[in-house]
Amino acid sequence: MKVTVLGAAGGIGQPLSLLLKLNTSIDVLSLYDIVNAHGVAADLSHIPTKSSVESYQPTSKTDTTQLQQALVGSDVVVIPAGIPRKPGMTRDDLFKINAGIVAGLVNAISIHSPKASVCIISNPVNSMVPLAAKILKQNGVFDPRKLFGVTTLDLQRFETFSAKLLGVSDPDLLKGRISVIGGHSGNTIVPLSHLSNNISTKFQQFVPEPKDLIHRVQFGGDEVVKAKEGRGSATLSMAAAAYRFIQTIIDPSTRHSGIVPESTFVSLRGIQGGDALADHLGVEFFAIPVQIGQNGQAERIVDPFELDFVSSDEKKLVAIAVKELKGNIEKGLNFKYDAK
Ligand code: NAI
Repeated sequence: MKVTVLGAAGGIGQPLSLLLKLNTSIDVLSLYDIVNAHGVAADLSHIPTKSSVESYQPTSKTDTTQLQQALVGSDVVVIPAGIPRKPGMTRDDLFKINAGIVAGLVNAISIHSPKASVCIISNPVNSMVPLAAKILKQNGVFDPRKLFGVTTLDLQRFETFSAKLLGVSDPDLLKGRISVIGGHSGNTIVPLSHLSNNISTKFQQFVPEPKDLIHRVQFGGDEVVKAKEGRGSATLSMAAAAYRFIQTIIDPSTRHSGIVPESTFVSLRGIQGGDALADHLGVEFFAIPVQIGQNGQAERIVDPFELDFVSSDEKKLVAIAVKELKGNIEKGLNFKYDAK
């Protein structure tokens, strides 16, 4: 099992690489960054776990061999490369810079590790995943079952904030029993609390007016951006979230049992159950619970609408999310990338 992190020396990349170094299913941990990749790798290589750490860093602006070597043979590629938000910025504000970075990296993946599962962390996720899908498609290697936008941080926040309000001492108990669907920015984030009667009743009892909780989940990232006073956005909680998601890709048996699996932002068509959902919602990309198969691919969409897990109030939030998502998706698809 080879896992490659592109942007490994960053605020997310470093703690994420640390967590991956501790995972015993990984044989090779390949770290790539335009700065300090060797430093991070040297540091991690002193941890006595099974995986070997390799590092790759371009020696000039035109050096593509390092990226190529980092990618070859990868089973999973994770992308936290790009700039984070500063106070007052939205995720959408990052688009121009990060789109160029992500497009270049995905283009290289399509050539050097076309069969890898690709997990995109770089923001805005709602636009980056459509952009990545377009590039993979243009290069003839797109498998919608293997492209994931990492939205687990929204779920982590929903679990954390809900556990506090519900008086649940261990937020682990909520795993798989609440969900977050839609996208990964502000109004596109739709928390679902009606997956089980038991939890639903608890929400009615302890959170009769869920507006504040929903707002905190949707805009929880702003709390971190503000508290860091210009020094970036969520990195540690994000690394934990990405690690949680990647674990399910490299070892699906670690997935927490629950009513639904965890959500991820995917291209719906081409995944079992995706056509019906895309037709129902009127969007091609959406964050939705997905069953992961043995080879790290999205096996099947677990449709919360079909299961009647979405309340009428939540359906109103979905309508708002879809409206905004359409523009975000369009933006990603319209980005012109010149591979030359
Ligand atoms: P950072 O600035 O600390 O790290 C980014 C890293 O990417 C740096 O080490 C930089 O050298 C590297 N990089 C830049 N261009 C590169 C290229 N062409 N190839 C390889 N590496 C390159 O930023 P941070 O805080 O780690 O955030 C990274 C991204 O993750 C941002 O876009 C941020 O908005 C996003 N993010 C996503 C979240 C999610 O829930 N999906 C949550 C929090 C942040």
